[in-house]
Amino acid sequence: MTDVHTTSVKARTIAIDGPAASGKSVAGAGVAARLGYRFFDTGAMYRAMTWLALRRAIDAHDADALVALAENARIDVREAPVGDAERTIVIIDGADATPHLRDADVEAHVSLVSRVPGVRTALVRIQRDLAAEGGVVMAGRDIGTVVLPQADLKVYLDASRRVRAERRAAQMRGGSQAPDIDALMADLARRDGIDSTRETSPLTAADDAEIINTDQMSIDEVVARIVELAS
Ligand code: CDP
Repeated sequence: MTDVHTTSVKARTIAIDGPAASGKSVAGAGVAARLGYRFFDTGAMYRAMTWLALRRAIDAHDADALVALAENARIDVREAPVGDAERTIVIIDGADATPHLRDADVEAHVSLVSRVPGVRTALVRIQRDLAAEGGVVMAGRDIGTVVLPQADLKVYLDASRRVRAERRAAQMRGGSQAPDIDALMADLARRDGIDSTRETSPLTAADDAEIINTDQMSIDEVVARIVELAS
């Protein structure tokens, strides 16, 4: 990358972790655009795996079947064109999972699938390959702690559950149903609970992560702060 911005940037690999709807994806994509880096949202990979499992009628509690699926699936991860709602495209076993990543049944099961250690091993291997050449921003739950512990910059984005629910509601406005903030908060609490308490790679800030509480920050401010930390 020869972008003029990158010449003074020290961090070649940037890990962004945080709970659901903390803004990792939109901030991460913004940082990558500013630096001329690639951006990958690893949540899209766990969602795609969940979508495939549901399509194959695999029980989200059947760890052996999920691991076999993850180990054998052909997973192709690409950056989405600028302007697409999803920032990461996932083609899994030849089918494009991207339009289905936010389906209600995927949303309901993704944290169960993601807690299976063998599923994580298979996906982490692909994530490390994607990041190997640097010039990358990667977002998830365990990027700074497990996937890229050597990342040059680790950021942990946080926000209160109410603010996160309101942001998710804002994304959904214009849809057929008015978003219910209490229901969104309950769903975030459920997913945060599973993600934070699982035995393998629980959601937690790395010891050397910069923690940014984004309650009072716009996306542009978050992006600017991360670019500043990377420089
Ligand atoms: O977009 P949102 O913040 O709601 O979630 P996401 O980043 O798409 O992640 C969906 C789910 O995938 C999370 O709730 C985790 O259960 C799982 N996940 C994970 O376990 N590890 C990652 N690196 C990324 C996502």
